[in-house]
Amino acid sequence: MPSVTYIEANGASHVIDVPIGENVMHGAVYNGIEGIIGECGGGLACATCHCYVDAAWTGRTGGPSSQDETDMLESTAAEVRPESRLSCQIVVTAELDGLIVHLPEKQF
Ligand code: FES
Repeated sequence: MPSVTYIEANGASHVIDVPIGENVMHGAVYNGIEGIIGECGGGLACATCHCYVDAAWTGRTGGPSSQDETDMLESTAAEVRPESRLSCQIVVTAELDGLIVHLPEKQF
């Protein structure tokens, strides 16, 4: 199963096995990682699943997956950066094994 490393704003790091086909938001929420909220359950309606994809991985995750994701990224509580994504829109694949995402200081 692919692993995803979640690095909180305070530096705390969590390596989580996330099933292929699951999204990065659920990988955090189901494992109690507090830096991702996922209030809308992945419906592109909250932006509380904001993350920063590690620079080593942006080439593989790509940018926002839809115009809706791009639009919703305007609603994040923390600064939006070029590597910003909504983690509910990043689907884990075998190619993303080892993915690293950084969590913002706040989601509200
Ligand atoms: S969980 Fe709400 S937009 Fe991602």
